Amino acid sequence: MNVLVTGGMGYIGSHTCIQMIQSGMTPVIFDNLYNSKSSVLDCIEKVSGTRPVFINGDIRDKSLLIKVMKEHDIENVIHFAGLKAVGESVEKPLEYYDNNVNGTLVLVDAMREANVKSLVFSSSATVYGDPASVPITEDFPTSATNPYGRSKLMVEECLTDFQKANSDWSITLLRYFNPVGSHPTGELGEDPQGIPNNLMPFVSQVAVGRREFLSVFGNDYPTPDGTGIRDYIHVMDLSDGHVAALEKVGAKHGLHIYNLGTGNGYSVLDMVKAFESASGKPVPYKVVARRAGDIAECWADPAKAVTELGWKAERTLEEMTQDTWRWQSSNPQGYPSE
Ligand code: NAD
Ligand code: UD1
Repeated sequence: MNVLVTGGMGYIGSHTCIQMIQSGMTPVIFDNLYNSKSSVLDCIEKVSGTRPVFINGDIRDKSLLIKVMKEHDIENVIHFAGLKAVGESVEKPLEYYDNNVNGTLVLVDAMREANVKSLVFSSSATVYGDPASVPITEDFPTSATNPYGRSKLMVEECLTDFQKANSDWSITLLRYFNPVGSHPTGELGEDPQGIPNNLMPFVSQVAVGRREFLSVFGNDYPTPDGTGIRDYIHVMDLSDGHVAALEKVGAKHGLHIYNLGTGNGYSVLDMVKAFESASGKPVPYKVVARRAGDIAECWADPAKAVTELGWKAERTLEEMTQDTWRWQSSNPQGYPSE
């Protein structure tokens, strides 16, 4: 199965390419390296034993996409490419709508011309907004509170309409909860540029000495220890979820929507403790004000993916923190710069 992987050099895409290769699929990576480095390709090759084809291109370049899909006999597309920083999206909404929404529309148009009718899209639990209750099932109402979230919601809606009008397509929306962790070899991991926005990369940079302390955004939420609760999922489990989606519904006409989460919630302080015990390093923290737009708790009901995809998150919190630490301690500055 030849699969075009947009954004395949990024955090989730690179891990997914390895799991695809190990399942006998052939990923063809299409990425403009806006938020990734070309050395990721060497790491994928080192771990998987295969060097995927890599095209340095932008998903808004329709003619290049068509050419690549035809040249490589592409049958499916997994679409990771996009911008993902919530705060930045508030400052630069146009860039987010252009890359995430317009970019996806150009991609789908190119797929139509290349006669490729199977798409898996990276969505996010952010589309549930502030959920009325937990755990969250796929039929919960959707909403958005910032341009990043709105771009994911807009793409979901565009793809839903498109699939209705094109019933011979398979379109799968995968709503990720909070991806963390790294490849267990320590060769690949998350390498955010600048100050990390997300909890786990920040915690691991504190543990490795790159940052002095963690700011805990509020301890007055209605949760057992007062800090926010999330459904952290190991990136390897998430990657396996993409392989399962391609295998189970990639050739099945229709619109398919799945939560990819574990069904367990952990607080900020749970994560700090787990990380300290995995790394053997202290993670000093200070409680500060709540972050605007944050919610108290969010975790998935993953039953639909279990039943329909035969996929279940298997890796434990210990594996999430140990694997993050292995990557962070052996690559304190992330991937080598070009
Ligand atoms: P990432 O930034 O590590 O990877 C995205 C990749 O897309 C990067 O390699 C980047 O260079 C590339 N890219 C960006 N714009 C592009 C364009 N116009 N053309 C071609 N390539 C482009 O991000 P990630 O964490 O791997 O996330 C992958 C996808 O999953 C994103 O769509 C993101 O919104 C979604 N998602 C991520 C999370 C998370 O916490 N990491 C959670 C929910 C959803
Ligand atoms: C964030 C995004 C969400 C995106 C998701 C990807 C916001 C408001 N939401 O969600 O759109 O889909 O990442 O995984 O940015 N925390 C701290 N200190 C920190 C960082 C985080 O206390 O330095 C806390 C947060 O308040 C939250 C938890 O840690 O309770 C997780 O935060 P984060 O990793 O940013 O993920 P989300 O807020 O769930």
